[in-house]
Amino acid sequence: MAARPLLLRALSGETTDRPPIWLMRQAGRSLPEYRALRARADDFISFCLDPEMAAEATLQPMRRFALDAAIVFADILLLPRALGQEVWFETGEGPRLGPLPSIAALEREAAAASARLSPVGETLGRVRGALEPERALIGFAGGPWTVATYMLEGRGSDRSLARSLVFSDPAKVEALVAVLTEATARYLVMQARSGAQALQIFESWAELLPEDVFERLVIQPHAEIVRRLRQEGIAAPVIGFPRGAGALVERYGAESGVQGVGLDVQAPAALGRRLQGAVAIQGALDPLLLRAGGEALGRRVEALLRQWSPGPYIFNLGHGVLPDTPLAHIAAVVDQVTAWRSR
Ligand code: CP3
Repeated sequence: MAARPLLLRALSGETTDRPPIWLMRQAGRSLPEYRALRARADDFISFCLDPEMAAEATLQPMRRFALDAAIVFADILLLPRALGQEVWFETGEGPRLGPLPSIAALEREAAAASARLSPVGETLGRVRGALEPERALIGFAGGPWTVATYMLEGRGSDRSLARSLVFSDPAKVEALVAVLTEATARYLVMQARSGAQALQIFESWAELLPEDVFERLVIQPHAEIVRRLRQEGIAAPVIGFPRGAGALVERYGAESGVQGVGLDVQAPAALGRRLQGAVAIQGALDPLLLRAGGEALGRRVEALLRQWSPGPYIFNLGHGVLPDTPLAHIAAVVDQVTAWRSR
């Protein structure tokens, strides 16, 4: 019988001889083979919604590096598009979104949205069929608040408009987050049924929220998503990544119901250890250090391994791989982590 994937063991709270490793944004522009594949697609969204191409992009980093998990190639902004808001990517400038549909219109589309995203399910099925059984497959969605910031702002930004609306029009923001919570739960159920063995919620813009707002717009929606998954019979563990939450990540770990908590580059060692009493932790190597490489990189990897082993710990970055990261640096970190033993 094939060994249970190390990632799933860590997420069920087991301490492991070495932590599993995968990297956020491991698929993508740092890989020349990705850039070649991307050049064949008309635009980024059609690439994400083409199961053959998306499965290939998912598998590319798995062929190159001894990673313990693959993450499905998709994007957090596929969901607003499936809910009826126009989304496109300006080359070199990032995402752009059309006018925000009314809440009523979004609510009408919430049930149909995950069916429109069935190509992502098909990608997951293809990848699961091609991936070795010891390597786990991760599905994902954006956190409702993070996705709401893009829908409200119409682009990537400093989120000051969305954060202002929290106070000037709280009913609108809460209604939007509620629709997204529902649609995200359905989308993640579909991904789990299609082959995702773990699910990550990327709450990339959890920073700068006061505690009561963080509770209402991050902790409670994530708890609701986990509750809905379990209600639908989905047992797959959930990793929540409230990037920038700072000290609030402790409340997040205790109250959101997730099995794993992603930590960003600032997370103190002691905070991670406290969280490990309740959940698996994931992170928190600085992508800038991964790009810079050298002896400092090796020393930091060793320090992270020591401070958070024997776990439960999942080795990862504190944010995504930067496009101009030398591949030799990624290979060196994967080698260092997979060769390491806590005892
Ligand atoms: O991790 C992986 O390898 C899987 C694929 C993945 C992508 N986006 C592919 C992508 C994942 C997990 C994401 C998540 C995502 N998308 C987040 C959360 C994580 C984070 O970085 O904070 C966010 C905020 C987005 C929204 C998004 N998508 C932005 C802001 C951009 C433009 C900036 C950028 O990083 O390129 C994208 C585009 C995007 N998503 C690309 C890729 C490979 C580049 C598009 C291209 O190849 O032309």
